[in-house]
Amino acid sequence: MRQQHIITTDDDPAIRKVLELILMKADYQVTKCTNGDELLESLLENSEKIDLIILDIKMPGKSGLEVLPIIHRNYPSIPIIMMTAFSDLETGMHSIREGAADFLSKPVRKAELLDCVKRVLAKAQEERAKSNAFNINTTYQKDLEFKLDEAYSTIMKTAMATIEALSETIEQKDVYTKGHCSRVRTLALKIAEFLPLSSEEMIILEGGSLLHDIGKIGISEQILNKKELLTKEEYATIKLHPEAGVKIVEYIDLFKPYLPIIRNHHERFDGKGYPDGLKGKEIPLLVRIVTIADSFDAMTSTRPYREALPKEFATEELKISSGTQFDPRLVDIFIDNEIYDH
Ligand SMILES: [Fe+2]
Repeated sequence: MRQQHIITTDDDPAIRKVLELILMKADYQVTKCTNGDELLESLLENSEKIDLIILDIKMPGKSGLEVLPIIHRNYPSIPIIMMTAFSDLETGMHSIREGAADFLSKPVRKAELLDCVKRVLAKAQEERAKSNAFNINTTYQKDLEFKLDEAYSTIMKTAMATIEALSETIEQKDVYTKGHCSRVRTLALKIAEFLPLSSEEMIILEGGSLLHDIGKIGISEQILNKKELLTKEEYATIKLHPEAGVKIVEYIDLFKPYLPIIRNHHERFDGKGYPDGLKGKEIPLLVRIVTIADSFDAMTSTRPYREALPKEFATEELKISSGTQFDPRLVDIFIDNEIYDH
């Protein structure tokens, strides 16, 4: 173990000698200074090698009490023991308030000195260890946070790529919905720009828009692409796609946030939709957004049974169905901000 290094500062040569003898005998390395200026100079060169300062208060030139705050400010990790005249308790207490670790009254007794030095050094060491542990912890924590952020971002990118691939499979199956999912995503995100959504909600809205019709994977292509009017049974089969979609993704933890959009994007604001007949704000906001985007794009795209409708017609339909099929506030946002023009 490294020998601990103490600087003593006293104008009285006899006291300097006594301190040196006691401390060296106790295996400390000792440097002697005769006044405050000499001490400050010595610290300028060697502060990192100093473990403790013993500082006399009454000295010619700078007094110990003048030097104390300078050292305490510039070398806060070096503890200082002040030496006061016997019975000057008041000054000793004052020095502690100014940052001294402890004080000793003259004449200094050997046992008292060594006990005080040992105690102050141990306390300083303990504080250094605490501060090191704190720094190590902080660095470790920052490193962990960075790695977590990176991992999260990779997972999110992978999840979005998977979602895009899945939505592509729906479009492959239902030829008339080519590009539908990605247009719903664009429209939904445009509407969301006018709402106070968190970035997490925006991610759910984006993925949910792409995945909303995932349940169509389980419906036969003959029904999906049928040009003629659907039979009652066929229509009933198509209406099963929200629940079928839930069954496809419900066991994938990463996709759980998208379940409400997948299950409820055919609900109506007046409660007459399916599969749950949810009404008004019972339908989550993100779902209500996707419903408008989905319906608008369905109207303005070519379907197996009809040509694409003009945008003007589709916006009129949104207005007519505001408050019945759609959330009126979202219809207003859609129309007022001409989102249909994108
Ligand atoms: Fe759908």
